[in-house]
Amino acid sequence: MSAGDPVSAADPVGAARALRHRDWDEQYRTGRWDYLGDPAERYRFTALAGQIHRYAPDSVLDLGCGQGLLYEALGGPAFAGRYVGVDWSAAALPPAARAARAARPARHGFVCADLTRLPLRASFDLAVLGEVLYYLPDPVAALADVDRLLVPGGRLLLSIYRPRPDRPGPWPAAVDALVEALVADGAAHLRTIVEPHHHRRWSFFLRQRRMEGK
Ligand SMILES: C[S@@+](CC[C@H](N)C(=O)[O-])C[C@H]1O[C@@H](n2cnc3c(N)ncnc32)[C@H](O)[C@@H]1O
Repeated sequence: MSAGDPVSAADPVGAARALRHRDWDEQYRTGRWDYLGDPAERYRFTALAGQIHRYAPDSVLDLGCGQGLLYEALGGPAFAGRYVGVDWSAAALPPAARAARAARPARHGFVCADLTRLPLRASFDLAVLGEVLYYLPDPVAALADVDRLLVPGGRLLLSIYRPRPDRPGPWPAAVDALVEALVADGAAHLRTIVEPHHHRRWSFFLRQRRMEGK
């Protein structure tokens, strides 16, 4: 979820969690997510990329990477580390794949796969889920799986859209409940950013994988 409800339905929260990759394909094809390229959303991508650069990770796993806009904000082909973007919507990925053809280094890649079933090694310094958790049936369980893809001490960075508390509908309470569950699961609030023109608000959270033996 970001600026608008992800789907219109009597139960938008449940409907968002029920979306399958074909639904996402359809939504990307019909322009539902085009606004992610707008300046207001770029503000978020820039802030998130800045947060990632602060940790100077050697490798980044971008889960639910969509069109690859965070990759661009990280510097695209100029990003010095390893980058793997994962999304299960093939319709989302092509722009990122095209960027690839234009000189993407071999250490950067995009994979079309379900992020909850990734056959990857535990080798990433940092994993990021930007605006993805609302769509997972069990976000906390999914994060435990993502933890396994991180090196010991590796970081998990989360971006969560914060709807205005007076916004009608179930989203404000659903997002509050999600945040509460993340914090109970060990995620720490890093910062909340407010985009200056449209006043969209996002919070970033961080969880670190425990070092071995601690
Ligand atoms: C709202 S978009 C967010 C895109 C981008 N990360 C951002 O920050 O704007 C959510 C993305 O998560 C992807 N997604 C949702 N569930 C997924 C799953 N189980 N496996 C892989 N991708 C998933 C969707 O296809 C979609 O591209």
